[in-house]
Amino acid sequence: MEQEEAVASAESEDYRFLQVEVDEAGIAWLSIHRPKALNALNSEVIEELRDAFVELVSYEDVRAIVLTGSGDKAFVAGADISEFVGMPPHEARALSQTGQEVMATIEASPVPVVAMIQGFALGGGLELAMACHLRVASTAAKLGLPEVGLGLIPGFGGTQRLSRLASPGVAREWIMTGEMYSAEEAYRVGLVNRVVAPEELRDATVQLLKSVLKRGPVAVATALDVIRRGLEVGQTEGENIEADAFGILFATEDQTEGAKAFLEKRKPEFQGR
Ligand code: CAA
Repeated sequence: MEQEEAVASAESEDYRFLQVEVDEAGIAWLSIHRPKALNALNSEVIEELRDAFVELVSYEDVRAIVLTGSGDKAFVAGADISEFVGMPPHEARALSQTGQEVMATIEASPVPVVAMIQGFALGGGLELAMACHLRVASTAAKLGLPEVGLGLIPGFGGTQRLSRLASPGVAREWIMTGEMYSAEEAYRVGLVNRVVAPEELRDATVQLLKSVLKRGPVAVATALDVIRRGLEVGQTEGENIEADAFGILFATEDQTEGAKAFLEKRKPEFQGR
């Protein structure tokens, strides 16, 4: 009963630019809603995103988050360029750091976060998608980091995440040319996990999540954490993090259930403990 109340409050939270809906499967559908500016990230949206992620991951019933943009045209067309006019360098640096922190909050979510990309994912919009754990894109999506065309560079972690998700060579090309790329090209370079027809986008996202959500939730959260922390360090330290986490999982009920269910030739019933 307590948990039901908690989810209900997530849905009714009064965000100005975000819409949140938690479905029966425990998937929180979080949509950025600024259609007139192609869902561009102004300072308020960035703060709301931080609040929403902190809030959503605090609910036990929220098992996954799908982040998307309102409407068919854009996931997010970038940071809000109108805020850049006359911005002094120290404020721009602070904006970059705030954006980076919010992206890091999203990436550190213990429940899987999927970016569902239906249209433009540009600049800060692509950086937001890259902070998510998985990306499902429509064939109509256009992705890119056009900041050099504005005399800028990506400032919400894009220079770092594109190098790691695709390759340094791809990051250099995408960032230096500032061109927009198709979803197929993004898939080819390893940036998106699935590309599907626009009408299949939601189903494909749910299907991908379903195959995650039937697994042990503690194991999934641990895997996300180990991968994220491992990307920050060298191989040996990363393997130490892995071994520690592997050991800790042997203290969970889910691990006992997983092994037992296998030996009893039945499906595991994970409790997330
Ligand atoms: N910031 C503010 N407003 C934006 C915006 C943005 N990033 N992207 C689009 N808009 C606004 C437009 O100004 C326009 O508003 P008006 O109707 O009031 O004129 C409205 O959204 C619709 O956009 P367009 O008329 O331009 O639509 P289009 O179909 O002709 O073009 C587009 C679509 C190619 C995505 C084009 O809007 C565009 O190039 N947008 C900017 C993309 C961009 O450069 N993003 C990077 C931003 S910088 C950044 O993100 C820095 C960082 O790393 C943190």
